[in-house]
Amino acid sequence: MSPTAAKSSATPVERLRPLIQPRLRKQPLNPEVGYLDLSEDRKEPVTTSTIAMQLPLVSAIYERWWRPGLVRIAKGVNGPSMSGEYAEAQQMLKLKRGDYVLDLACGPGNFTRRFARTVAPDGLAVGYDGSRSMLERGVRELNADETPAMVLVRGEATQLPFEDETFDSVCCFAALHMFPEPEATLAEIARVLKPGGRVALFTTTVSGGGPPALAAHAFGVVSQMRMFREDEMRELLEGLGFAVDSQRSAGVTQLVAAVRA
Ligand SMILES: C[S@@+](CC[C@H](N)C(=O)[O-])C[C@H]1O[C@@H](n2cnc3c(N)ncnc32)[C@H](O)[C@@H]1O
Repeated sequence: MSPTAAKSSATPVERLRPLIQPRLRKQPLNPEVGYLDLSEDRKEPVTTSTIAMQLPLVSAIYERWWRPGLVRIAKGVNGPSMSGEYAEAQQMLKLKRGDYVLDLACGPGNFTRRFARTVAPDGLAVGYDGSRSMLERGVRELNADETPAMVLVRGEATQLPFEDETFDSVCCFAALHMFPEPEATLAEIARVLKPGGRVALFTTTVSGGGPPALAAHAFGVVSQMRMFREDEMRELLEGLGFAVDSQRSAGVTQLVAAVRA
């Protein structure tokens, strides 16, 4: 549990406040919006791969159809199912009651809501994303779910608005390859994690040099998604002082768990 956090009788937003960097700590929550907007430039992330994530139609069908369908193609037939991913993320993070977990690029909060049920009532699951429409969808799902230990925050992945050594774990699924500067985001993840904190990543990977690899690289160029080399994630994480706990690939995706020194 976070030592700086307020008591669990407070609302999730009140409990999050002490963990936000001082310059943004007093940012008001607009009750009509339902998520805390900490995006300083107010713009949504814009690359080819993030434009779809800002469309209300995509946000509406994302959890039920888009994510299970399209990402299945990338994972291949031997990759984990959606329920397998939900379970594996929690195992990779060793998530437990009382933990403070950041779900970075949470989309409509499909993972965040599950995390919140595990960490409740005294922990906190923070869903963080740059897309208004994804967060609006997330607020609707959250209200229907009445999950007690969850809060949604809008902001940019390159600069996280949280204090150093705040979270017990950070999850970043299906998103790192979309960020404009994945290295900067990984450094931010290291900064906001407590020593011994865990990160779980689900992102792209391409190995070999044959036609399938060339096709994947071409897709990466068109979609502006980063296709990570097989050993690149380990190098980046170790360079930031993480110890990689597990790494496995499925199709053009990889699941990586690491622990911060
Ligand atoms: C494919 S969704 C992943 C949602 C969820 N984590 C999952 O695995 O189903 C990717 C999310 O990343 C968000 N995103 C992309 N680039 C971002 C950025 N630079 N800053 C913040 N969020 C970003 C998008 O808005 C989108 O909601």
